[in-house]
Amino acid sequence: MTAVDVVVMAAGKGTRMKSRLPKVLHRLAGRALLQHVVACVARLQARRVVVVTGNGAEQVEAAVAGWPNDGLPVPVFVRQEPQLGTGHAVQQAVPVLPDDGTTLVLNGDVPLIEAATLQKVLDACGGKRLVLLSVDMDDPSGYGRILRSGEAVSAIVEHKDATEEQRQIREVYTGFMAVPNALLKRWLARLDNNNAQKEYYLTDIVKMAVGEGAEVVAVKTADKVQVDGVNSPAQLADLERAFQLRQARALMEEGVRLADPARFDVRGELVCGQDVEIDVNCVFEGRVSLGDNVRIGANCVIANAQIAAGAVIHPFSHIDGEKLGVRIGEGALIGPFARLRPGADLGAEVHIGNFVEVKNATLARGAKANHLAYLGDATVGERVNYGAGAITANYDGANKHRTVIEDDVHIGSNSVLVAPVTIARGGTVGASSTITKDTPAGALSVARGKQVSIPNWERPKKKAK
Ligand code: UD1
Ligand code: CA
Repeated sequence: MTAVDVVVMAAGKGTRMKSRLPKVLHRLAGRALLQHVVACVARLQARRVVVVTGNGAEQVEAAVAGWPNDGLPVPVFVRQEPQLGTGHAVQQAVPVLPDDGTTLVLNGDVPLIEAATLQKVLDACGGKRLVLLSVDMDDPSGYGRILRSGEAVSAIVEHKDATEEQRQIREVYTGFMAVPNALLKRWLARLDNNNAQKEYYLTDIVKMAVGEGAEVVAVKTADKVQVDGVNSPAQLADLERAFQLRQARALMEEGVRLADPARFDVRGELVCGQDVEIDVNCVFEGRVSLGDNVRIGANCVIANAQIAAGAVIHPFSHIDGEKLGVRIGEGALIGPFARLRPGADLGAEVHIGNFVEVKNATLARGAKANHLAYLGDATVGERVNYGAGAITANYDGANKHRTVIEDDVHIGSNSVLVAPVTIARGGTVGASSTITKDTPAGALSVARGKQVSIPNWERPKKKAK
């Protein structure tokens, strides 16, 4: 086994994206295009990873440095300024590439390449040959065509330099190659830009290899999605759908029942137990796990959450755990129109109904907040009933304070619990009370204006003109 170095080309402009954001930082399934590539490389046990940056270099480098590296060697950045073509891009990496080993060239804007495919390319290379990954395209226009004499590859000719006859060839170069470092360095030194685009073409090394009698092999893939690049918003959207469909099919293979795989998005990692059902238009972000028999209603957005077995999330609920996470216990009923924020930790059989917001709050088994309420920075006991319109006033304008509601408490509708405050076990708070002091166990606490009725009240009358 020879050592593998990876060069990722990410200097290009991405003009057709018509965006200020560098192309390789545009997102597919919630992650930057280049992050997909880097994550794939992490599975290859590379010795060195070189990222060629140019357009938006600082932004791209800062982004790469911030991603989890999953066993990837710390990426080395080289700048390509100005951008004079793919050959010129790889030339910039030469000073940081060892003389031995094999280099794998990748594109920062081709996000869905898989490690197994790259491994096939590396295996075919065996540290000796120039290997190109190719694919048959129905519409090959714009791509470099693979020229063959018999089985052997003789050259790649770029679309703009190709003759009409060559343009009929449907086998194209995908932009992925493996090449022994020593040969790569020798060939790169001889590139010129005598072509239609006045660029230094990496693909010209094929002619050089053939001229020297070196072996050139094209490994063909049948999976276009893996080698599809992103050049425009439309291509990005197409690839997003293709990727989402793949994820949907993989989950369905495991038994997850999706109402419609075409209306389903995972931007991160979704792990499901048995007999999970997901209705249409749901989006999952970050890390989400769904236990056995969980049901997710239509139009839910769920991020960074653990949902235990048997829980039901009714339609239009928004759950985002961000860094703290959200936990939902067994058999809990959430929504419709519920909002669970970071640190919401709900026990078994908790009910959270419509227009209820929960943040940084623990609700023990069987607690219920069914309508129009806010629970922030609170500890809520078992079987608590939290009435419609009740809120914890957790913020005094400077600091956040905690509200403690012990087991079996009933909080009347429209109450304000001004934290820090404790409602002791079994207590009842009368509707519309503003509670500023701790209340004793078992007591009824009422804190509102006394009701007054004035008998025979005469309403004002309109004056005669
Ligand atoms: C290249 C190949 C072509 C192949 C196609 C597959 C060459 C000359 N041609 O074409 O045979 O069919 O990819 O998509 O290699 N980049 C830089 N610096 C540069 C130019 C490009 O970093 O100076 C990067 C781009 O950001 C991109 C990648 O290299 O990630 C490919 O560049 P692109 O312009 O898309 O290559 P093509 O000319 O389309
Ligand atoms: Ca391209």
